[in-house]
Amino acid sequence: MSTADTLTLRRPDDFHLHVRDGQALAAVVPFSAARFARALVMPNLRPPVRTAAEALAYRDRILAVLPAGTQFTPLMSLYLTDTTAPEEVERARARGGILGFKLYPAGATTHSDAGVTDIRRVDGVLERLQETGLALQVHGEVTDARIDVFDREARFIDTVLAPLAERFPRLRIVFEHITTRAAVEFVLGARAGIAATVTPQHLLMNRNALFAGGLRPHHYCLPVLKSEADREALCAAVRSGSPRLFLGTDSAPHERATKESACGCAGIFSAHAGLELYAEAFEAIGALDRLEAFAAHHGADFYGLPRNAGQVRLVKQEWAVPSTYPFGDGTIVALRAGERIAWRMAAVEGA
Ligand code: DOR
Ligand code: ZN
Repeated sequence: MSTADTLTLRRPDDFHLHVRDGQALAAVVPFSAARFARALVMPNLRPPVRTAAEALAYRDRILAVLPAGTQFTPLMSLYLTDTTAPEEVERARARGGILGFKLYPAGATTHSDAGVTDIRRVDGVLERLQETGLALQVHGEVTDARIDVFDREARFIDTVLAPLAERFPRLRIVFEHITTRAAVEFVLGARAGIAATVTPQHLLMNRNALFAGGLRPHHYCLPVLKSEADREALCAAVRSGSPRLFLGTDSAPHERATKESACGCAGIFSAHAGLELYAEAFEAIGALDRLEAFAAHHGADFYGLPRNAGQVRLVKQEWAVPSTYPFGDGTIVALRAGERIAWRMAAVEGA
């Protein structure tokens, strides 16, 4: 249901989220729990979350910081390494609440050094994933330093992802945080069982935002922001209503000093407005009527999960994002810090 100023949606899910560990958890998890009923939590901790047992222990640490009265279920993904035992797939499936394995090409992004050095080394795991129906979540960028950073996603499709999808024709694959026209074309034209998440930043900004009036470290994430033509392709794809595309914020908090640095970390924190930013993006392209399915239906359907029963209500009412939020002993600078967001969360009911 929606009027010009109010949007009532089925409670959404965030299918790509970083919440870190330790002290940081309590600083960031409540933002997601105040919006989303469930989130797929990424395993790139140090050391990474590699086994079902580690994932369930991590899930318990997340549950322990939930504010009283919030209804929020963390869903888990295991970090795939060159040495992951194929049997870990059965262990993960048997435990429940673990949706798949995350493929980080080694060196592609934050805490990816333990990632996969050559996709063929994990064929045994991929076979089991294909058999069990668990998904492979993919950070889709090549890591060759000679490849232009803006071309790494497109190159990954040609050299890794497309061949992979053919070699394992029933493997369920989520191409995470797609950023390019090439990725849109690949996903929309791919065989069944292939889907993608889309972040708010890649719908709202192009690469000019990295350099607007000076270097903007808080707009730096990986895959990096792309061209306006790429952004338009992403917008057109979500506006089409394709069930292959769903919400994954990739909210990735880093302490302020580690981003405002001579070698700043990749990651944009957006959990403070994880649904509101999408409302802005969808409104800007005249697609508010597509938001609910993108945020609350497509991802659940892809993963074979029930759609949530609860509801959220957003109102068209500007609010100012604080210049910083607390983060352990430090702070985080969120997306739009010190600026305004057009939509505000008004109510959350049920799970
Ligand atoms: O910008 C990013 N930040 N991209 C990733 O792939 C990882 C993430 C993080 O963990 O900070
Ligand atoms: Zn991520």
